[in-house]
Amino acid sequence: MTCVLAVPGNELHAQQLAERLGVSPCPVELRRFPDGEIYVRVDGDLAGQEVALVGSLLGGGDSFLTIAFLAGTARDLGATSVGLVAPYLAYMRQDAQFHPGEGVTARYVGRLMSQVVDWLVTVDPHLHRLDALERVYSIPTTIARSAPAIASYVRSQVEHPVLVGPDAESVQWVSAVAESCGAPYTVLEKTRRGDRDVSITAPETAWNGHTPVLIDDIVSTGKTMIEATRQLRAAGSAAPLCIAIHAVFADALEAELLSAGARGIVTCDTVPHTTNRICIADSIASAVRARLG
Ligand code: R5P
Repeated sequence: MTCVLAVPGNELHAQQLAERLGVSPCPVELRRFPDGEIYVRVDGDLAGQEVALVGSLLGGGDSFLTIAFLAGTARDLGATSVGLVAPYLAYMRQDAQFHPGEGVTARYVGRLMSQVVDWLVTVDPHLHRLDALERVYSIPTTIARSAPAIASYVRSQVEHPVLVGPDAESVQWVSAVAESCGAPYTVLEKTRRGDRDVSITAPETAWNGHTPVLIDDIVSTGKTMIEATRQLRAAGSAAPLCIAIHAVFADALEAELLSAGARGIVTCDTVPHTTNRICIADSIASAVRARLG
């Protein structure tokens, strides 16, 4: 038997998963003691159950502790295994030491999480210099893919699309969507100089009536999407539709993106946001089913 637990704040994803697995999420209580320490309680019989804990490390320093406490509680209640379903896998960005003295946090988070849960399911993690999650996670992992759902959205919304990735690492997502859509694709060149400072080079190209669809895994400050849009428009393209898998939105960026010449931005629903239009729940549920066997 499977039991779905929501890390508080992730109830929608937990509900979507539970519905697809044909179970009800098990209630979780989380509160603070007066001194700020975290209290957790799981209201259910987990004896002999495989637990899928739905949560993310996005949103603050206590999220890891909350996941660890819920996983520990589930085991104490008799769960036979505890997996983490993280629709957005945070802490994949710092996957190398770029300057002396920096911490490689992707590695530390992978190591910590691998001590807390037995398996991990996530949607299109930011694999850039790391070519696989196994480089930092020692537990079994399964990646749910957003490409089929994005391709179906693009087919329904854009005539004659050409898919465009803003940087070299985006080729993995862009090529998968392009293949599903039967559309051409190209990838731009990006140089990042700082958290909010990127430059992008778009090739001179004949767009031949195609509408660009910019696809990136994460939109955070939006500088990547904004600069890519500017360069596409400067190269003579139609207004691009921007699609991001993970709507991190560290900054309010929509007005700047529109004034740079974008047609709009839509996102998958791995991180709840007003721009969510593409539902990934089916893909997540298939990955969890495969993990549970
Ligand atoms: C990094 O290379 C990622 O693929 C994204 O391009 C990046 O996270 C986007 O960040 P921002 O929105 O801050 O430019």
